[in-house]
Amino acid sequence: MNETTNKPLSVYLETYGCQMNVADSEVVLSIMNGAGYRRTAELENADVVFVNTCAVRENAEERVYGRIGDFWHYKKDNPGVVIGVLGCMAERLRKNLLESESAVDIVVGPDEYRRLPELVENALAGEKGIAVRLSRVENYDDIIPLRTEGISAWLSVMRGCDKFCTFCVVPFTRGRERSRTLHSVIKEVEQLSAQGFKEVTLLGQNVNSYRDDAYDFADLLASVARVDRSMRVRFTTSHPQDMSDKLIETIAAHENLCKYIHLPVQSGSDRILQLMNRTYNTEHYLNLVEKIKRTIPGVSLSTDIISGFPTETDDDQKMTIELIKRVGYDGAFTFKYSPRENTKAWHMDDDVPDALKTTRLNEIIEVQREISWKKNQQEIGQTVEVLIEGPSKKSDEDFCGRTDTNKMVIFPKGGLKAGEYCTIKIARANSATLFGTVVAQETKEVVAYAS
Ligand code: SAH
Ligand code: SF4
Ligand code: F3S
Repeated sequence: MNETTNKPLSVYLETYGCQMNVADSEVVLSIMNGAGYRRTAELENADVVFVNTCAVRENAEERVYGRIGDFWHYKKDNPGVVIGVLGCMAERLRKNLLESESAVDIVVGPDEYRRLPELVENALAGEKGIAVRLSRVENYDDIIPLRTEGISAWLSVMRGCDKFCTFCVVPFTRGRERSRTLHSVIKEVEQLSAQGFKEVTLLGQNVNSYRDDAYDFADLLASVARVDRSMRVRFTTSHPQDMSDKLIETIAAHENLCKYIHLPVQSGSDRILQLMNRTYNTEHYLNLVEKIKRTIPGVSLSTDIISGFPTETDDDQKMTIELIKRVGYDGAFTFKYSPRENTKAWHMDDDVPDALKTTRLNEIIEVQREISWKKNQQEIGQTVEVLIEGPSKKSDEDFCGRTDTNKMVIFPKGGLKAGEYCTIKIARANSATLFGTVVAQETKEVVAYAS
């Protein structure tokens, strides 16, 4: 509470990084809300400024440093404002952040968000603070995230990662793997359904490692799917090592489990995969892809690829390109290798020059763009079911929404509403988007998923 105006203090929060960070930010807002703070979408109204950060690549951190610079200016004009750095960068850099960035008042890692109100209160009284202990149990199980949008919800089902891929900082910033109980996840999905959410994405760095006693991730997915057949269920990320037959069959068996799997391969070279400690080879990966395609007809697949991992040669790059073509992904997220302190790869020589990393990255992007274009052309003339997300970015006359297979579709609004399902006939497509017109509006409960 502001003592002179008697108004609740306002929190402004910016989020960087993966969806787990987006979900965490909703937990943070819920905790702050419970302590009497209100959320503001405008920096210039903020008494408390949080930035929830990502440390996965150097450029992710650079962006945050830029923002901290902006906040420093804001604080100069508004003394007394509290600036907090949260998330993975806070966990990685710890007290160094407090020392190097004079604008920063508090530094809080991903497992310490319950302490935010106390730390902010101390900071308002002029005392800087840090909380970066990682926990083996913290799941924020009992906290209902403060969600801002009413159609799609993120829901973390596990935290941390035990995989220790040699390039990756996540096991250090997020700590050990731990799962929420199946019961608490189901309860939250029931609440989402009651609130009218139409889609939920279950999140974890490696959801396939989910475990609650006898229940594995396939059991969790099946239970979530049963809560509300009119709700789409997505999940990310799957590690190719732990993707069981049971999980694949479960996806195939439930109509509202979306036929889209993000299955990061990272490289098409077995030698590089081994250096990355990915614990599978390309043969395993390709067999897995075959099995997925066979069991889930029409499935769409995407991947993550790193370009320029230490010692990567032109031959390794060729193998990556070949694998991309063989799988025929619907989409790919591509990154230049960025050395991260503390990881095993940090001690390897970062010997692929930046210009070559860029060349290889661009080659991959181009190959993937062509594949995506061809795949999307095959959709022309088809009818697809779309969940309407909201107005299209480019035109107010149009809506955008997604297919079950996670393809973006743009179409004229035609009296429909966001959050509704509709059937769209595809008229044209580029490599990223499908365009069409409404054929029918659906009453989902009756038409599609009667069970
Ligand atoms: N848990 C997920 C991904 C986490 S990070 C998984 O295992 O797939 C998201 C992606 O960032 C990774 O898949 C990887 O492609 C990329 N990435 C992680 N560390 C990186 C680094 N040091 N340099 C470049 N890309 C990296
Ligand atoms: Fe990082 Fe590997 Fe864990 Fe993914 S599985 S978060 S890439 S260590
Ligand atoms: Fe980044 Fe942390 Fe996610 S490092 S990718 S925000 S888990």
